[in-house]
Formats: sequence, structure tokens, C-alpha cells
Amino acid sequence: MISKLVLLFFFLASIITAEDDLSFIYNGFRSANLSLDGIAEFTPNGLLSITDGTEQQQGHAFYPNPVTFKKDSLNGTAPFSFYTTFIFAIRSHFLSPMGHGFAFVIAPTRGLPGALDSQYLGLFNETSDGNETNHVIAVEFDTIMNSEFDDINENHVGIDINGLRSVKYCTAGYYTDPNGEFKKRLKLTSGHPMQVWVEYDSEKKQMDVTLAPIHVGKPPNPLLSLNRDLSPIFKNTMYVGFSSATGLNQSATHYVLGWSFKINGKAQELVVSNLPKLPAITWKGRYILLAAGLLLFSVYIISVAISGVLVIIRKIKFAELIEDWEVDYRPQRYKYKDLYIATSGFRVQNLLGSGGFGRVYRGILPNSNTEIAVKRVSHGSRQGMKEFVAEIFTMRRLRHRNLVALLGYCRRKGELLLVYDYMPNGSLDKYIYDQPKITLNWTKRFQVIKGVASAMFYLHEEWEQVVIHRDVKASNVMLDAEFNGRLGDFGLARLYDHGTEPQTTHIAGTFGYLAPEHTRTGKATTASDVFAFGAFLLEVSCGRRPIDSRKQTEDIILVDRVFSCWNRGDILEAMDPNLLGTEFVAEEVELVMKLGLLCSRSDPAARPSMRQVVKYLERDLEVANSEFLGLRSSGLAFARHEGFDDVVDDTFHHTSSVAESLLSGGR
Ligand SMILES: *[C@@H]1O[C@H](CO)[C@@H](O)[C@H](O)[C@H]1NC(C)=O
Ligand SMILES: *[C@@H]1O[C@H](CO)[C@@H](O)[C@H](O)[C@H]1NC(C)=O
Ligand SMILES: *[C@@H]1O[C@H](CO)[C@@H](O)[C@H](O)[C@H]1NC(C)=O
Ligand SMILES: *[C@@H]1O[C@H](CO)[C@@H](O)[C@H](O)[C@H]1NC(C)=O
Ligand SMILES: *[C@@H]1O[C@H](CO)[C@@H](O)[C@H](O)[C@H]1NC(C)=O
Repeated sequence: MISKLVLLFFFLASIITAEDDLSFIYNGFRSANLSLDGIAEFTPNGLLSITDGTEQQQGHAFYPNPVTFKKDSLNGTAPFSFYTTFIFAIRSHFLSPMGHGFAFVIAPTRGLPGALDSQYLGLFNETSDGNETNHVIAVEFDTIMNSEFDDINENHVGIDINGLRSVKYCTAGYYTDPNGEFKKRLKLTSGHPMQVWVEYDSEKKQMDVTLAPIHVGKPPNPLLSLNRDLSPIFKNTMYVGFSSATGLNQSATHYVLGWSFKINGKAQELVVSNLPKLPAITWKGRYILLAAGLLLFSVYIISVAISGVLVIIRKIKFAELIEDWEVDYRPQRYKYKDLYIATSGFRVQNLLGSGGFGRVYRGILPNSNTEIAVKRVSHGSRQGMKEFVAEIFTMRRLRHRNLVALLGYCRRKGELLLVYDYMPNGSLDKYIYDQPKITLNWTKRFQVIKGVASAMFYLHEEWEQVVIHRDVKASNVMLDAEFNGRLGDFGLARLYDHGTEPQTTHIAGTFGYLAPEHTRTGKATTASDVFAFGAFLLEVSCGRRPIDSRKQTEDIILVDRVFSCWNRGDILEAMDPNLLGTEFVAEEVELVMKLGLLCSRSDPAARPSMRQVVKYLERDLEVANSEFLGLRSSGLAFARHEGFDDVVDDTFHHTSSVAESLLSGGR
């Protein structure tokens, strides 16, 4: 009880009024009698709040009585020393930048009339700043960098004499060892209480300012030390107190927790445990901080998750199928991702056409900028894939100016992608059928025919092994930039020949180009290629498809029509009407049509070889009329009804029933 009373006694402002050597101590300001102005106030629990968070305001708190700083003696005036210590804390308002700071001040008046807020800290104004008649000494704790006062940063301590351009300044901090070696930085706006000591020794003419966190004790060395005789600044009596100001959008609450002062001697120590408590950082602020933290964290988590999912989606999207046996073909393998980028994601604008085996897309390879055509072949079963890839890679070595070069491949689940040279002029059929935009003249057509013939001759006889194309037709003949015919898609039919069920033979090829013995036996031969070539010759010279159901019944089958024209002695009657009125060589047209008939013979042995065909076309060999001696309508392919029953070719949407009805309707 007694000790409490003693404490209470200390807790109250104790003023010892020995005339000259004034001293006072405030362990909290609960019942203090300071002179306040501006927005300065005491909080209910005894804190001195010089400014609260209000913007563009100032506040002052002065010890109410004048303090004697020097005294007239017989031979002049003798200045007094002083010693003061106080504890302060600067608290922010959520998301608001701190400002502007506060100062311990010794001034000739109680309060500082005419002073401004913001960077002037409630000490001076534009005109009074720096004027020697001010007689103001201040120790500023400045939390805004003002370049007009040469501030070093937004966290400094300075000694100001008559103006805000500090005569001595330093970043806030303290020394931890007596040698002054190591200085620890302090953040003035940390919100934590800090203690300050300001001492002036009138004999040494030295002013020291020391700063430290509470509980650390007074550091061995001062932060700032000014060697200057302050007696010209001091008036005989002065007022001591605090000044603080806030600015536009820059505010904080500047608290003083306790203050002790003494003239000529060491001031009494503050009793830290008796100081009033600072308000807790508000729950609102904490809540907002927590929410902001959580928000940031969840944004982070979500973005990590999204990028993870994206990576997985990408992986799935660009997934490829690679098996051990494909090691040998690695150089020819393309990355699906590259093909995807090349074709802009296989979009419709890049679609060149959809042929029998799949869609073909135009693309530009990202690395080399080369134009390519990518064929997507859907392939359900893995069966036969190995043989097929092996085969197309023997074929990759095939090099002929009339073959479309195969550059490589890529494999995905259920899908094979073949990469070819891009043919800028597309496929031949576009220029022949159905009111083409550009009709190919005869010279070009003949050139294309010769080119295709030479390519087929190369496949059948010139290369190291016999290669059967299996799907010769106008839509598989591509035109390069110079309108040279180039045979494409070779060997693809083979992929479908490896049937899933061995007992049923799937014939791949195109109806109308399939030789009768091929449909019967399911075996492709060079002769069946020649048969297809015959159909191709007729379609190029007659400008229509081998089977055209829109024609009159006797004309549905092209071979029959050409044959009957030939039989009547006017084979040219069957030629492409689009060519009439253009320049053409009648003998060449006739030769091509006759060759077409010869190649269409139902007896494979009776068909010419590609070697002979090339010779005929080059006019090295005349087509003797004797060749046609055995040629009767019944000797031509489509005269026969038999042999088409097992034409099963889902990929071309021609079912055998369609074929049958066509045929039975045709004859
Ligand atoms: C506070 O101080 C002023 C100025 O010294 C004085 O006039 C006033 O009476 C004091 N009030 C109290 C309650 O001490
Ligand atoms: C005059 O001042 C000096 C120091 O400035 C002091 O030592 C001396 O005692 C003073 N004389 C008197 C008569 O007070
Ligand atoms: C500036 O402050 C001084 C007092 O220090 C005052 O006399 C003067 O009127 C003030 N000037 C302005 C412009 O407020
Ligand atoms: C300083 O202030 C005084 C009084 O206010 C004034 O007369 C004087 O002109 C000022 N000096 C400067 C340099 O502004
Ligand atoms: C201060 O805040 C106001 C709104 O309160 C805003 O319009 C202004 O741009 C801010 N100024 C600065 C310097 O941030």
C-alpha cells in the first residue's frame, strides 16, 4: 500500500522548484499541467498525443512555466547546462504514409505562433525559417524527406538551430559499443517506443543527442554531438516542449509516454514500467493486414495452381507417342508442339484440304521458317504402325522431282502426322473438275502427265526396290510453283492394308481407280498402279471423274464413254470440253486417251508397264493399232460386274452398296 503511494507520487508530475535548478518528471501525463495547442491532447490513459492522424495539422505541448537558461552575472551572462530524456512512439494509420515527424524544442515563447504544419513541423514558416531572431533550438525526428531542407532520408534525427536545415543530422539509430564502431538502424515509424536523451554542457559547449529502443538503456555514445556555444541562442528564460505536424496524405500519431528534465544536473530516470500503455495496433488494422496477407497468399496459391494446371494441360495437349523402335527415326521426328505452332494450332484457316487419309494443313516451321504441309492421319490401332513407319522411311529416301518429298513424321495417340514439302499450287483436281477457277491448258496438263508417269516409272523400276503407290489419282497429284506435277501420298494406302482382321481384306485406294484384280485378290501390284494411272490419264484429258453418277446412264463410267467414242472413230469427242477453243495438240490428246484405254484393260498382263508408258508419252514408241486389236468393251475394267463385292472402304465414304447400285444401274 505504501509502495503504491510512493509510486503514485512518482507517477504524478513532480516539480521541484529550487529557483534556478529546475527539474521535473512526467511518468505519463495523466494529471500533467502542460500547455497544449493545436491538436495536441492527453489520452485518457495518460499519453501525450502531440498530433493524431488528422492531416495537415500541428500540435504543441510545452512545460507551462518559463525555464531559466542563463543568468546575468557580474561580468556577463553565464549559461546553464541541461539534461532531458523522454520516450516517444510514432504510430501509423493503415496504408497512410507516415508524416511528418516531431521535435523536442526550446523556444522563447510557449507555443510557436505563425508556424506551419507539414514539413515545417510546427516550428517555423517560410519567412521565419532560418532567421537568427527566432532563438529556437530543436531536435527533430523527421519521417519525410524534404529536399528543400537537404534532408538525407525519411528516417533521420537532426539538430536544428533557428531553421529546419539541420546543423547536425544522422539516420536514426544507436551505437552498441563504446568504440562507436557499430551502429544499429532504428526505424522511427516502427510504432515501438524509443527513448531519447538530449544534453547540453555549457562548459564544454557541447550538445549530445542519443537514441535507443526502450529496455536497451542509454547507449555509450551519442548519435549526434554538436560542438557549439548555444548561449547566443538562449534567451535568459525559454520554454521547453514538443512540436509536431502532419501533412496532406501524410500523417501519424506522435506520442510522448514520459518526460524528465533538469537544469544543471542529470535528470531523474523515467520509470518505464509506470509509463502508460500505447494502444494496441487496432484489430481493424490487424484484420485488414491479415486479410490483405491472406488475399495475397491465396492469389499466390491460385496462380501457382493455375500455372500448374496450365503446365499439365500443355503436357497433355502436346503429348506424343514414342516407342523404343522409333529411336532410328529420331532425326525425322518432329515435335508435336512445333507442328502445332507451325499450323497455328491446326486452325481452319490453315486447312489445305481433307483427303482420303486425313486433313492436310499448311504451316510454317517456327525455327527454320520453311513452309510445310502437315497431314493428320487418324490411326486407331497400333498394329502395323511399326512396319508402316519403317516403310515410309525407306520412302523418305526416295528422291524424284515429281514426287512430293516426305520430310518427317510425328506420332500421337491414335494419330500420325506426316510432314511434307508444301506445294503452293495445291492438287491437280482443283484445276480440272467442276468449273475450276483456272483451267489448266493442255501443254501444262501434258507436262503434268509426263511428270507423274516418270515418277511412277521411278517407283516401279528405277529405285532399288519396287514401290507401289496404291492411290494414283488427280487429287493426289500436287502442283509445285512451276506447275510441275508431283505425286504425293505414296504408301499411305499401305497403312490401311494392314487390316485389323486378317480374314477380311480391306482394300484401300479410291473407287474408280481400283483395278479389278486388286479388288478380287486384295493385292496391289505395279499393274494395279498402271490401271489407276489409266483412269488418271482419262480424267485429265476428259476433265471428269472416272465415275460420275450425274451423267446419263451410258456415260456414267468414263472408260466406257471413251471406248465408245473410240469405237465410233472419234475419240476426241470425249475430251474435256473446257479444252475446246484453247490451243491443244490433237495427237497428244488422242495418245493420252488411247493410253488411258490401254492401261484400263482388265487383264493385268495386257496393260503396258510404266517403262512403256513413258516411252509412248515421249513418242519413242508408237501406239500400234495392233495394241487395240484385242480391245473390246468387255475387255475393259468396268464391263465386269464381278470383283467389286468386297470393296470395303470406309475412309472414302463409298460403300460397296453404293458401288453396286451404281454399277447395276449403269449397265
Ligand atoms: C497549470 O499551469 C498554469 C500556468 O502555470 C497555471 O496557470 C494553472 O493554474 C495550472 N493548473 C493547474 C491545475 O495546476
Ligand atoms: C567572471 O567570469 C569568469 C569566467 O568567465 C569567472 O571565472 C569569474 O569568477 C567571474 N568574475 C566574477 C566577479 O564573478
Ligand atoms: C512567421 O512566423 C513569425 C513568428 O515566428 C510570425 O511573426 C510571422 O507573422 C509569420 N509569417 C507568416 C507569413 O505567417
Ligand atoms: C528576421 O526576422 C526579423 C523579425 O521578424 C526581421 O525584421 C528580419 O528582416 C528577418 N531577417 C531576415 C533575414 O529575413
Ligand atoms: C491525397 O489524397 C487525395 C484524396 O484523399 C488524392 O486526391 C491526392 O491525389 C493525394 N495526393 C497525394 C500527393 O498522394
